Amino acid sequence: DLIYDACYWTLFPRSFAYLTIKDRTPQILTKVIDTLHRHKSEFFEKHGEEGVEAEKKAISLLSKLRNELQTDKPIIPLVDKCVDTDIWNQYLEYQRSLLNEGDGEPRWFFSPWLFVECYMYRRIHEAIMQSPPIHDFDVFKESKDENFFESQDSINALCTHLLQLKPITDLGEKQIQDEFFKLLQISLWGNKCDLSLSGGESSSQKADIINSLKDLKPFILVNETESLWALLSKLKKTAEPPAVRVDIVLDNSGFELVTDLVFADFLLSSELATEIHFHGKIIPWFVSDVTVRDFEWIVEHMKGSHLESMSACGAAWEAYVGMKKWVYHDHAFWTLPHPFCAMPQVAPDLYAELQKAGVVLFKGDLNYRKLMGDRKWKFTVPFHQALSGFHPAPLCSIRTLKCELQVGLQPGQAEHLTASDPHWLTTGKYGIFQFDGPL
Ligand code: F6P
Ligand code: MG
Repeated sequence: DLIYDACYWTLFPRSFAYLTIKDRTPQILTKVIDTLHRHKSEFFEKHGEEGVEAEKKAISLLSKLRNELQTDKPIIPLVDKCVDTDIWNQYLEYQRSLLNEGDGEPRWFFSPWLFVECYMYRRIHEAIMQSPPIHDFDVFKESKDENFFESQDSINALCTHLLQLKPITDLGEKQIQDEFFKLLQISLWGNKCDLSLSGGESSSQKADIINSLKDLKPFILVNETESLWALLSKLKKTAEPPAVRVDIVLDNSGFELVTDLVFADFLLSSELATEIHFHGKIIPWFVSDVTVRDFEWIVEHMKGSHLESMSACGAAWEAYVGMKKWVYHDHAFWTLPHPFCAMPQVAPDLYAELQKAGVVLFKGDLNYRKLMGDRKWKFTVPFHQALSGFHPAPLCSIRTLKCELQVGLQPGQAEHLTASDPHWLTTGKYGIFQFDGPL
């Protein structure tokens, strides 16, 4: 069922993986360096000469990193002293051991794609960490915030839609179900807005998403939201004690995060769930991924918005956080290169946390790659099989396709897609909801 294992995808010169490492990542690094340059005077104002020196140091470390990448140097161990440094270096050792039988050494273009790409973001973090006093500067914060501001009209329209539904418990079962599917699809298409695919360039949501859902429906390749609905409605009726926890493993900040929060609000307001637990990253990751600062920043900016619906939602969301109906978690595991099936060994505490959920939703493409172990599965392999034993609770992946990896398709479906749209796997134009039971 595997076409090949441990995706050394960067070996294949025409693959998306190869192009990611060759073109997209240096572009992202250049943008990071440019961002630091532009903040020079801010660093000076805050920290004086020391700030300017730190900026220079970070830039020189990042230029070195870009050079290592572009000249295909060996992957070197991390030298910082963070909670995850040892695990990273052990993982590099493990990659080395896999190659040593062939007498090789992991290099930028001779390593599993997932590993190299995660490593690049971890090295950016290392460069900043090693440059105090600017060590907690988020090099991607600006682009994430920009994405939010540029999407404000869509966000406000979405919030207006949500508010008009309230009180949701007054709606009939059928309408609640329709809205459940609608808001899930909005959260799916929100995943188009990731900034690493565009090399860090803005990709905010300007279209009227609510009214586009019908036209987008044919682009959902696998839709198992009925099973998700069945599970949640069953839990609502049978959970003992009557508490249902839904966990959302977040992906991108900006518009996508708002679509997730709107869905989370709907789950609470419709009483399909009684608490929502969000999971984010502890360091800036894949350009647009959510950190605790982004999460708090968005709730605060929603609340402070001059647009009425946004501000009403922001206030409600702040109250959910205050009442602990919404709980935000982060864990170093999410920014390691490991596939999720390694979670019970590598991060047993996180696995135990997810086991408390009635269902776990995984947003986005990178989470999908990690769920699937980033192995090149046949397109028709069942989702459950490709999870390779990862099953902390019933789960559902919600992602737009941005890599050459997809399972659970009907026989012939992939071939048909390739014939009509050769780039169907990597443009984010298609989406899936894949559910793993039991009901
Ligand atoms: O660049 C690799 C990748 O995983 C892509 O496949 C995707 O473009 C991006 O990173 C992350 O996407 P997402 O934000 O949906 O996880
Ligand atoms: Mg992302």
